[in-house]
Amino acid sequence: MTIKAPYNEMYDCAPTLTDQQVIDVCRNGYLILPGVVPDEVNQQVVNYLDTVDSTYAPTLIMTQDWFVEGVVKNPQAAGAVRSLLGRNFTLPNLIANHRGPLPWPHTGGWHRDGGSIYTPALEYLQVFYWPEECTDDMGPTEVLPGSHFMRTKAPLMAHYGKIAGAVSTAGPAGTIFLTVYSIWHRRTRATSEPRGKSTFRNLLKYNYWRTSPPQRDWIIDPTLDFNVVDFEPPQVGQFEQFHGGIAAARMFCWLCGIDDQYVKRGGQCWPILSARVPLVHDGADQMGIPSPLRRHV
Ligand SMILES: [Fe+2]
Repeated sequence: MTIKAPYNEMYDCAPTLTDQQVIDVCRNGYLILPGVVPDEVNQQVVNYLDTVDSTYAPTLIMTQDWFVEGVVKNPQAAGAVRSLLGRNFTLPNLIANHRGPLPWPHTGGWHRDGGSIYTPALEYLQVFYWPEECTDDMGPTEVLPGSHFMRTKAPLMAHYGKIAGAVSTAGPAGTIFLTVYSIWHRRTRATSEPRGKSTFRNLLKYNYWRTSPPQRDWIIDPTLDFNVVDFEPPQVGQFEQFHGGIAAARMFCWLCGIDDQYVKRGGQCWPILSARVPLVHDGADQMGIPSPLRRHV
């Protein structure tokens, strides 16, 4: 059914991510939700992109109730967005489609999208959706975990080839993945002929924005000990020692609404002892851990 497109409308739902999952987004810079959109919706989307709007900006798909309900307000995806952006986040006002021919012999250059800034603040999320299965030979986007904090100018990264630790976003039809906007990513080479209904690799992309101040109102785990949580991104070798974990911890504190209590004094301040070095004194708090996250308040 056609509806009035809910561009920029505020939306709220129950958060679905736990403390650890929020920390993992801070560390990695992305979250993949495989196959969360129902297949009948995926098929309607592919049909729309092939027969109604095959442009690179099929934003009017926001006038279709099955798209808004099944994709934009998808319970698992919106629950993750709600966890990270707080109550009453805004719905997209632009839908892009990275619609690539199959096969496609070129690998895209590593880049971060235009307008990226480096900040612990998470004011918006860039979200992607595969309406059909995308396998590794169909040119999926790959992302570099932890790179959302790596300060490199886009022209200085474009020539890089394979980077150790890069992760494919390939997944079954209905996969949605959320990214911190500044994460390094690129399109990979597609060697496959089309295997789905569409002769293209369709990848929709859209943004949600925060309207509420950050607070720790996702699914709280009262047993989590922030002294031993690992904040380091998986590829620690790409950072100056510990700085990936320091940046991730700062983003987590910002999301908790306690950024003003995170004072990084340098050296062995939290969270670096939790990252790769076991705590010497079991039961002690690390220097610099914000008081709401301490064992001993
Ligand atoms: Fe991009």
